[in-house]
Amino acid sequence: MYELYPYFTNDGSVGLYSPKDDDIYHSTYGALSEAYEKFILPANFDKYFKTNSDIKILDICFGIGYNSKSFLNYFFENFQKKLSDINTTIDAIDTDNKFCKIYIKAVDTDKNLIYLSPFIRTDKKFIFKNRIGFENEKISRLLNVKIKSKYKYNRFLNIVLLKKIIKSCPEIFEDEEFNKILRDKKYRRFLDQKICRIYEFYKIQGCKNTLLRRSSAFLHNIYYRYLSKSYKKALKYLKINDLIFDVNIDDARRTLLYDKNIYNYIFLDAFTPAKCPCLWTVDFFKLLRKHLDDNGMILTYSNSAAVRNAFIQAGFWVGKIYNKESDKFMGTVAAKKLELIKNGLSEYDLGLIKTKAGIVYRDENLTLDNGAIIAAHEKEVANSSLMSSSKFIKTFRGAKNV
Ligand SMILES: C[S@@+](CC[C@H](N)C(=O)[O-])C[C@H]1O[C@@H](n2cnc3c(N)ncnc32)[C@H](O)[C@@H]1O
Repeated sequence: MYELYPYFTNDGSVGLYSPKDDDIYHSTYGALSEAYEKFILPANFDKYFKTNSDIKILDICFGIGYNSKSFLNYFFENFQKKLSDINTTIDAIDTDNKFCKIYIKAVDTDKNLIYLSPFIRTDKKFIFKNRIGFENEKISRLLNVKIKSKYKYNRFLNIVLLKKIIKSCPEIFEDEEFNKILRDKKYRRFLDQKICRIYEFYKIQGCKNTLLRRSSAFLHNIYYRYLSKSYKKALKYLKINDLIFDVNIDDARRTLLYDKNIYNYIFLDAFTPAKCPCLWTVDFFKLLRKHLDDNGMILTYSNSAAVRNAFIQAGFWVGKIYNKESDKFMGTVAAKKLELIKNGLSEYDLGLIKTKAGIVYRDENLTLDNGAIIAAHEKEVANSSLMSSSKFIKTFRGAKNV
């Protein structure tokens, strides 16, 4: 049976845990904050939209969609406002003067998570007890007493997302597993109940029966009036921007092999290389390179030496993501042009890449399962004559006196 393991992270947005991988999908620090700080702020969209009006984003491991949702939120808050500077009507913009075309390709193997993305709460302000929907000591210990939200997510974007998902996957209404999750009482507090009602409205609207039609009209009046501000905003947003949301429920390797798009930004948010190496191999990165615009960027949260080395071997320039808030480097950026790398790798990072820790994962035909990739990697590490990372760290610190 399909189960979710949700909890409220420290910024009031919902995060998930995977018992199978004993890994979190989202950091306890804050699922929304993490998306902002690791993917959106380092992408430098301000610079991008100075010279571009269209954008193509590939969101690998979309999950419940924080990275794409944060992008839409950031776009709406920072660039949508420019519309008010354009002295024209919405209709005119819509017909002859499209402000921006946004194309987002969302890829994940788990359909339930993609479907759930518009329903997930991002705005919990106070929780007095029970922040976590399951038993987990390790996660509980990392949760603060108080919620501290840093970024505000405009909820109406969830209506936009819901409409897009319904359009792309009309089978959502018939999907028993997913609809069971929505009805399950234990998940209720983690889902936005207003979005659930809008979903019910769309579901009923599809039926021909008059009785259902009447109840649909009833729901329409109640919820749309109730939500009218958000709803109108959502409609306006849908109209002004040409937003294509392309849902792909499949292995990211397969999706990309058949994809012809070139992307301006690629968000890579897979589980760690030790859990999901198939999306961190040098061979997958070579495929990503073919799909990246010459001025494009790949962003990921990983600091792994093996990942950085795989990017280098696949022909990228590689740098680190600097986080102003914490004054720390917390991820990796890869690009085809050196000038796009703001913070290059340090002497320490480059040294680590040359140790056993930098040995890359391989998957030549892009078909191996994670177990086979891990086994081959372990063998290569065991047979390698490279220095161990611990010895390198000790020597490096000794030499630098740190
Ligand atoms: C760390 S979570 C991503 C979190 C996500 N970005 C979000 O905002 O919720 C990793 C995701 O990778 C997905 N995944 C695992 N293997 C995959 C594969 N081979 N191709 C595509 N997605 C995969 C999982 O279903 C999971 O949703």
